[in-house]
Order: sequence, then structure tokens, then C-alpha cells
Amino acid sequence: MKRKVILDCDPGIDDSLAIMLALSSSEIEVIGITVVAGNAPVEMGYQNAKKVLKHMGRLDIPVYIGEEKPLIKDFVNALDTHGSDGLGESFLPQVIDQPLLKSAVDFFRESLHEQSVSVIALGPLTNLAKLIETDVSAFAKIEQLVSMGGSYKAHGNCSPVAEYNYWEDPEAAHIVFQQMKKLHKKIHMVGLDVTRKIVLTPTLLEYIKRLDEKQGEFISKITKFYFDFHWHWEHIIGCVINDPLAVAYFLKPDLCQGFEAYTDIETQGIARGQSIVDAYDFYKEEKNVYILTSVEVKEFFYFFLERILHLKREELSYLEEIFKGETA
Ligand code: RIB
Ligand code: CA
Repeated sequence: MKRKVILDCDPGIDDSLAIMLALSSSEIEVIGITVVAGNAPVEMGYQNAKKVLKHMGRLDIPVYIGEEKPLIKDFVNALDTHGSDGLGESFLPQVIDQPLLKSAVDFFRESLHEQSVSVIALGPLTNLAKLIETDVSAFAKIEQLVSMGGSYKAHGNCSPVAEYNYWEDPEAAHIVFQQMKKLHKKIHMVGLDVTRKIVLTPTLLEYIKRLDEKQGEFISKITKFYFDFHWHWEHIIGCVINDPLAVAYFLKPDLCQGFEAYTDIETQGIARGQSIVDAYDFYKEEKNVYILTSVEVKEFFYFFLERILHLKREELSYLEEIFKGETA
């Protein structure tokens, strides 16, 4: 029986790679994509999701437009990182269609009341917070909740201490984390401690192109801007692809290790958006989060390439060369 999944995302370059990975994985069924304002305004994110689905030949998958701004804070996009079109200035042709009238929250509600569904959240948690506010019984039915966001010890990417998804809508993240505590459940937080280690390098990209020209060209087209951004701001040759790790972890949990802790999200002031991880149980609160702290980087890229290129592990042996000498 395939596990049913909703991808909640803000496409976004790395969201797009995550969508590609999810759609290339036969053990899950993506029953829908919900878009939230984040990297790009929500309508642009909707269009980008459609462009990725078109590339994958999966325009059959419904895409629902979600919240167009954070619950309280002003909307701040990340187009400086993802390009003016939100997809690395690839300027792929628009997919002409009529957006579905049903909202993301209504799609969540209907799906969760009908069947067992997990959610992989790759953007700000605004849609999920809205779901809690409108129908907490639906939210309670989420089978497993994985969120790319936050950080434990890694420095932030939009403040010294905050990761973008939780910085963008800290109130939403706080509501979701607190609701998981009330439900005696745990959110799986795929934070910067692990995602920063997932760097798509020019060598890896060239290898993908050699193995599959179509897929390689598409990935190259949507990531060029992202490579330039990383060189300019982080002085690294490569780009951190955060979101695909959240999907890979959902599919193959042994890629990562971590620990359980009570965690809340700061919503105000200089530490806005920080995920406060109570690793030593100072607050004696129920543990509501599984924090990821390590990842098998080479194994991730084997997994990623096996799936998006539909190849067997033994066909990817050059990864041993690429990662030769890399610490595990
Ligand atoms: O901080 C990285 C996260 O914020 C990623 O999900 C990226 O796509 C943006 O949403
Ligand atoms: Ca994202």
C-alpha cells in the first residue's frame, strides 16, 4: 500500500527538486501539492509547481493555492535567492490553466478526513497553522509530519539564529509545534544542521547531465541562478538543496540521525524565527520534535540520483570518485 503524501511547499528551486524526487518515488502517492507564500508569492509558486509537474509529465496532480501571507508578519519573499520568476530565472513557459477554486486548507481538510495522509512541509507553516485554526481534528489526523525548517546548532540563513521558513512565519511555526505537543505527537524537523550538508556541486550536476541529458538540463536551468547566489553570498561553489532532503528522509529515515526534544519557535525580536531546542530538558516539557543532527551525504546523493534518473545504485558508481576523501 503506497503511503499518501501532500507536499506543502513554496516553489522555489529546492522545492522543485523535492517535488521531482517525490514524483520519482514509487512507494508514495503524492495526492496533491499545496502552495504557500514563501520563496515566491503564492500565485508564482503555483505556476512554478505546474512547470515542474509539466516537466515530469504529471500535470494530473492537483495543485492548490494556499495562504498568500504569513499569519501576522509582513510577507517577505526570497526571490533574491530563487530569481525573479522563483525558479532560478529559467523563465520556463507558463502552464496555461485555471487554478482550482478549492483552497489548500480545504484540500487538507477533505483529504485528512477521508484517508491516511502524511505531510511533507517545505515552506513556511502558514497553511498548516490555518488548518489548525479552522479544523484541528483534521490536522490531528496527519499520519507523519516532516518539516524542512529551523536549526539546532547550525547558524541561520536569514538571521544569525533563524532559518527562512520559520523566520518567515514564526507564529505559524509556533502554532504547529505547540499543537503537536498537545497531540502528544512529534514533528520531524529537517533543519539546517543537516540540509546545509546537501550541496549540489558542479561535478554532481555534470554527472547528472552525463547520465540523463533531459533531467540534467532541466536541473541545470533552474539551479544556475542558485549557484551564482551561493558563490556571491556564501562563497561556495555549489548550492544547498534543502528541501529534497526532507523528502528523502521521509522515504528513507536511516539517511539521518537525531534526537527528540521539546522545541518552540521564538516569534519576536532579534531571535525571531529561532527554533529553541531544549536538548537538556530544562523546561521539563513534553518532547514534540524529532531533531535531525546528522546525515549520510553520499547515501543521500545515491538515493537522489537513483530516483530522479531511474537508475540502479551500481550504475552510479562514479559517486564513489566524487565523494572520495569526503568525511562520512
Ligand atoms: O531555509 C531554506 C528553506 O526556505 C527551503 O525550504 C527554501 O526553499 C525556503 O523555503
Ligand atoms: Ca521551500
